[in-house]
Amino acid sequence: MSEQPIVIAGGSGFIGNALAREFVAHGRPVFVLTRRPRERNDGVREICWDGEKPDEWGQCLAGAAAVINLTGRSINCRHTPENLREIIRSRVQSVKAIAAAMAQSPSPPSVWVQASATGFYGDTGDRLCAESAPHGRDRLAEVCREWETAFTSATLPATRRAVLRIGFVLGREGGALPVLARLTRWFLGGSAGSGRQYLSWIHLADVVGIFAAAVANPALAGTYNAVAPAPVTNAEFMRELRGALHRPWSPPAPALAVKLGARLMGTEGSLALVSQRCSAQKLLDAGFQFQFPELAPALSDLCPGT
Ligand SMILES: NC(=O)c1ccc[n+]([C@@H]2O[C@H](COP(=O)([O-])OP(=O)(O)OC[C@H]3O[C@@H](n4cnc5c(N)ncnc54)[C@H](OP(=O)(O)O)[C@@H]3O)[C@@H](O)[C@H]2O)c1
Repeated sequence: MSEQPIVIAGGSGFIGNALAREFVAHGRPVFVLTRRPRERNDGVREICWDGEKPDEWGQCLAGAAAVINLTGRSINCRHTPENLREIIRSRVQSVKAIAAAMAQSPSPPSVWVQASATGFYGDTGDRLCAESAPHGRDRLAEVCREWETAFTSATLPATRRAVLRIGFVLGREGGALPVLARLTRWFLGGSAGSGRQYLSWIHLADVVGIFAAAVANPALAGTYNAVAPAPVTNAEFMRELRGALHRPWSPPAPALAVKLGARLMGTEGSLALVSQRCSAQKLLDAGFQFQFPELAPALSDLCPGT
């Protein structure tokens, strides 16, 4: 196995931590670019950057096998004009900073894997979206469009590049699942709004697998939906989650209650009400094998013994 490091920008968070663990377990040194570096003794070196401009941190790119960019202010907040500006700025600027540092590096990584989100498609209703589907018109779709445009417009002809439009990531220690699980344990795990909106979920282990495959497989380039092959409606998702947590019933939450509840929790109800039904066919055609293609085993894995 190659000892060339992997650079993970924004690698201190939910997906980045899992990804760094995976690469280290396979003998790869990992450099994490973060605004608040800490000393670690687990094979990961944290390097300070501001996520905005090339600087000394760019030296860590020389000789690295790949750069992965996960940077971005969380969308799990009120979408005020100020927060939306920061959501876009953190994503677009980090992409531009990496592109500039790659261009200046004497031996930049030959692969760049960039995070994006299924929010790109906007509210898709029942329509199944492959990667060729057009971008949506809502605010988060616009965020994703600007994010991806910054990435694809960088001039790096020698670099293989892949964008992963990530769905709703299910993990034990991050993302929205622990919050939903807590609400469900309190008998607040009913369907949200009509319950007919689709949710394109994916187990964290498969997100990690897709990023690792995008680094290792020279045939993977372009845009991929990083979602499980079986999207479900919100009502189906909540029913499975209640089953996994032994809560047979909870009252459904009308859209207004979801919006008010989300506001009280400092976030946006639209995140639970928007419909995203995305296809994983392109990844399947590329030979990717999901560990958790179906929701029920994914939830039993993540909510064990409850
Ligand atoms: N989790 C999901 O379900 C999901 C779904 C779709 C797409 N995604 C995308 O995948 C990426 C990684 O997701 P995640 O869940 O791992 O996110 P996360 O836990 O919030 O980590 C993102 C990282 O970005 C950095 N960051 C946050 N705000 C920043 C800012 N204002 N300026 C510069 N850097 C900032 C942080 O690093 P430091 O604080 O250490 O600098 C943080 O560790 C994100 O871009 C996210 O939009 C995630």
